[in-house]
Amino acid sequence: MLKNSTCIFDLDGVICDTAKYHFKAWRRLANELGFDFTEEDNEKLKGVSRTESLKLILQWGKKEITDEAELERLADMKNEWYLDYITRMTPEEILPGVKNFLDELKKKKIKIVLGSASKNAQIILDKIGITDYFDAIIDGTKTTKSKPDPEVFLLGAEAVKAKPKECIVFEDAQKGIEAALKGGFYTVGVGNSDALEEAQIIIPGFEYIEYKEILEALNAGTK
Ligand code: BG6
Ligand code: MG
Repeated sequence: MLKNSTCIFDLDGVICDTAKYHFKAWRRLANELGFDFTEEDNEKLKGVSRTESLKLILQWGKKEITDEAELERLADMKNEWYLDYITRMTPEEILPGVKNFLDELKKKKIKIVLGSASKNAQIILDKIGITDYFDAIIDGTKTTKSKPDPEVFLLGAEAVKAKPKECIVFEDAQKGIEAALKGGFYTVGVGNSDALEEAQIIIPGFEYIEYKEILEALNAGTK
């Protein structure tokens, strides 16, 4: 029975909609290399690390680049464009209901952890003004394996001395849900993507949702 469980949040797509900025920056890179890709393709990049994303995009564009220095140059170029967007973010970009939900957790003294693949997570949290909510922040600068490997969530749980079975992971990406399930965590899919169906429960977002309802649904084993 779950009770006052630690909450581990993914960042991009759960706390704020940075997926649109990732898409714009990757698309610009693809366009400069002479090809395009769709928003549907972009879904496959959610939760995937920067290096892995670049490899996938180059495959879609049928570009064979193996030179490590060139791969790094392309990833850096994309990140510069991405930084242009995120350094202009404001607290208004926190997704609806998230702040209330975090306040509810704080009041209940529930641990709040970030589990993100992004190496830019700290910049984003600072820009949207919610860094202080987190008891631990595990991001792409602290991990060596990309989701669907559970490393990011396992490190997150460990940081607050919790066991996976005492934690709920909130994720918007199929790769993230897969990672959390592999690590033995409870999972809540956030959003309306079909790709979330493996999650124990799915919520459209945090608006009008209370933590206790999530606990009830997870404890009842309902979808
Ligand atoms: C994840 C995003 O949160 O972070 C991915 O869903 C992104 O799309 C990954 O590629 C890495 O982000 P960054 O900021 O380190 O390039
Ligand atoms: Mg995400």
